[in-house]
Amino acid sequence: MSFLNEHFLNLPENYLFFDIAAKVKAFKLQNPGARVVSLGIGDVTRPLPAAAVGAMHRAVDEMARAETFRGYGPEQGYGFLREAIIETDFKPRGISLDLDEVFVSDGAKSDCGNIGDLFSATCRVGVTDPVYPVYVDSNVMGGRSAISCFPVTADNHFVPALPDGRVDLIYLCYPNNPTGTVLTGEQLKLWVDYALEQGAVLLFDAAYEAYIRQPGIPHSIYEIEGARRVAIELRSFSKTAGFTGVRCGYTVVPKELTLTADDGRKVGLNALWNRRQCTKFNGVSYITQRAAEAIYTPQGQAEIRATVDYYMNNAAYMKQALVSLGYSVYGGDNAPYLWLRVPQGETSWSFFGRLLRELAIVTTPGVGFGAGGEGYVRLTAFGRREDCREAMDRLAAWPRTGQ
Ligand SMILES: Cc1ncc(COP(=O)(O)O)c(C=O)c1O
Repeated sequence: MSFLNEHFLNLPENYLFFDIAAKVKAFKLQNPGARVVSLGIGDVTRPLPAAAVGAMHRAVDEMARAETFRGYGPEQGYGFLREAIIETDFKPRGISLDLDEVFVSDGAKSDCGNIGDLFSATCRVGVTDPVYPVYVDSNVMGGRSAISCFPVTADNHFVPALPDGRVDLIYLCYPNNPTGTVLTGEQLKLWVDYALEQGAVLLFDAAYEAYIRQPGIPHSIYEIEGARRVAIELRSFSKTAGFTGVRCGYTVVPKELTLTADDGRKVGLNALWNRRQCTKFNGVSYITQRAAEAIYTPQGQAEIRATVDYYMNNAAYMKQALVSLGYSVYGGDNAPYLWLRVPQGETSWSFFGRLLRELAIVTTPGVGFGAGGEGYVRLTAFGRREDCREAMDRLAAWPRTGQ
């Protein structure tokens, strides 16, 4: 009997962005003169906020002196950062959290993968389709094969319908990657109510909350009544503050969130997650946490707002250009992603290929995010302004554009 974790054999062979990178590399080799414009992978391009850079320099200096040197920090994150998070991200929205409900981490990707440690292999998982692939792949690795999909397409206005049957663990990502769409408070409340009735847990990924423009759209699941009893929220500094290479995020696990064990005991997920983190994680670097804290200063807040504005102006520019070229395009109003319907007769991959070969523009094929993404490509607004303009100019001059 093999002692391999054979669940890995149930995964697609490669991570989506690995496949795309290979195709782009091949194109560049064949076309060394081509200036490739990437609207593909969701990585940021603006530098770190000056407030964060200054804080990192000061923290490095502290680490260089015996009197101020710090070794291992708390696994859950330093109090100074957790306090700043609660005061700035939650209190103004009427949400009060205790310090020990916030767990600082090296980013939302790790946490949304690692959170599976808390749930059984027989747990029934629900995800939207299309979906951020990490939710599905990390569950497959953990041996969870009961994964239901809630389609989100233009036909249902990208609003997932509640499951027919019972689902235990539900991943919701809003603002959504990849579709760039959001849900209203009323729409989110249906999911919270479902979880309350069914005893399900919601994993709410709010990595893109800083991009919400429309007043009234919830930034946190805890704005919805009852959510503290059913929801875990994931947050990231990656897209908010350009920390994709610095690595910092946090996860909120409220103490009211409990599940019933087989012996009838009520078990708090907060205590379990704390136990998990203390065993498998040794915290985020002090320097990084000082940088994250600096984002919450008035200077830091102004700087991240300017960066988010920059990307959202890209999104608005591209959306307007694409609509005027006759494309159907969704998202981009409260998220840095545009979800573009491919012309009739094309698939996600064929349109991706044509954009690459004929215009040297990199996108992400929607089908890479699940079967429900077939017929779409994702464009990101994280590029440089000049590149977004260049891409739209190339599309406008493309003879086979439009639908
Ligand atoms: C929906 C979603 N969640 C989480 C992440 C990962 O964020 P982090 O950089 O904090 O790991 C991403 C990154 O692209 C994302 O799109």
